[in-house]
Amino acid sequence: MKVDVLLGLQWGDEGKGKIVDVLTPNYDIVARFQGGPNAGHTLEFEGQKYILRSVPSGIFQGGKINIIGNGVVLDPALFKAEIEALELSGHNLTERLYISKKAHLILPSHRLLDQASEALKGNAKIGTTGRGIGPAYTDKISRNGLRVGDIEHNFEIKYKQAIERHKELLSRMNFEYEELVSIEKDWLEGIESIKRFKIIDSEHYINKELNKGKKILAEGAQGTLLDIDFGSYPFVTSSNTITAGACTGLGVAPSKIGNVYGIFKAYCTRVGSGPFPTELTDLTGQKLRDLGREYGSVTGRPRRCGWIDLIALRYAIMIDGVTHLIMMKSDVLDTFDTIKACVAYNIKGKETEDFPFEINDSIKPAWVELAGWKTDMTKMQNEDEFPEEFNAYLSFLEEFLGINIKIVSVGSDREQTIVRYND
Ligand code: GDP
Ligand code: IMO
Ligand code: MG
Repeated sequence: MKVDVLLGLQWGDEGKGKIVDVLTPNYDIVARFQGGPNAGHTLEFEGQKYILRSVPSGIFQGGKINIIGNGVVLDPALFKAEIEALELSGHNLTERLYISKKAHLILPSHRLLDQASEALKGNAKIGTTGRGIGPAYTDKISRNGLRVGDIEHNFEIKYKQAIERHKELLSRMNFEYEELVSIEKDWLEGIESIKRFKIIDSEHYINKELNKGKKILAEGAQGTLLDIDFGSYPFVTSSNTITAGACTGLGVAPSKIGNVYGIFKAYCTRVGSGPFPTELTDLTGQKLRDLGREYGSVTGRPRRCGWIDLIALRYAIMIDGVTHLIMMKSDVLDTFDTIKACVAYNIKGKETEDFPFEINDSIKPAWVELAGWKTDMTKMQNEDEFPEEFNAYLSFLEEFLGINIKIVSVGSDREQTIVRYND
């Protein structure tokens, strides 16, 4: 058996949560492999809407085990709030959610360090989610981090040492940290909440289950263009969001990776700062934002919107070794007369089809314009119902990207998902 991976191919918010939920019935285990509560994964079914931050999106399909893997950074306070909200709405997670001993903890001071670091950047702010993600991963890499498994091993001493070190750092950054006292209380209560769950050696568990023939889906957070190595650096997140991240973030060997489901929107969005070659700052961009309800699920920030960028998408597919594509939010384009796709970058008079080292404002997209389908697709159930122009859009993308589009999503609900028979 192999581990299948589902991940985002753009700048996040592609609809990963919805599709993990849809695919979970085919799996026994769903495991998050990186990121933390910077993620906001939305699921809609039976008239209810849920936003998951640290809990994997397989949690609503009964009887499936969900794992928070070693590659994740976990904020106990936000985790407690998330599980309490889920339990209030009738979803008991205790028996079905396992946490890796090797997942790193986001300390209350990491959140302040995130703010302090952003403040020092002046005009070059990343526009982070402010959840302490960067500082927590920095501590992991610099070998100063605290892990979930430390909770049972001299935790108080380790925690106090870390907080003292962070206070010193904050002082050097001229950042006031009085707030720490109030956020610390919630955080320590969160530690108690974590103890309610099975804290496991998840790399052993996952590999043993795999050997028993169990089916495992690895759930990515963020998107390939936010990857720390291959994204639009430095405007990225602090983890490997790519397929390789599933290997390090779960302890699964590369030879054990099976299908890679790459998910993208029929257009493109980005939250926070950083380059975005196909961004539309005009009324068309506003129309995409309104129709797609493009506002951050974590921070509520308006998402920047633009046409699909096939240069960036093809690059992401290459880095991730995508075997199946999934196209989301095609319904958002239902009313457009024409739709554009970026098929090359023009950089200072030279045209390239390769995603360059630096993407910046000097990139001018070369467009192909396609006819819109001008049809409400939100109630469609089968690919036989697809309008001709929509099929032409799919074929154009498939040819350019060199891979089939296996699933098309035509609305936010679980039911608004069409699986195509083109394998
Ligand atoms: P994730 O972070 O990748 O899980 O994506 P988000 O949940 O942050 O953002 C995706 C948003 O689009 C959510 O509000 C979803 O409910 C919504 N969504 C998902 N698929 C579709 C779709 O096919 N059509 C429409 N209109 N909305 C969708
Ligand atoms: P999901 O999983 C969209 C962006 C932030 C910022 C940059 C760095 O819901 O797709 P960080 O807080 O990670 O240090 O911020 O990354 N970002 C996301 N954008 N969706 C996400 O997650 C994101 N997680 C981080 O906006 O630009
Ligand atoms: Mg999201």
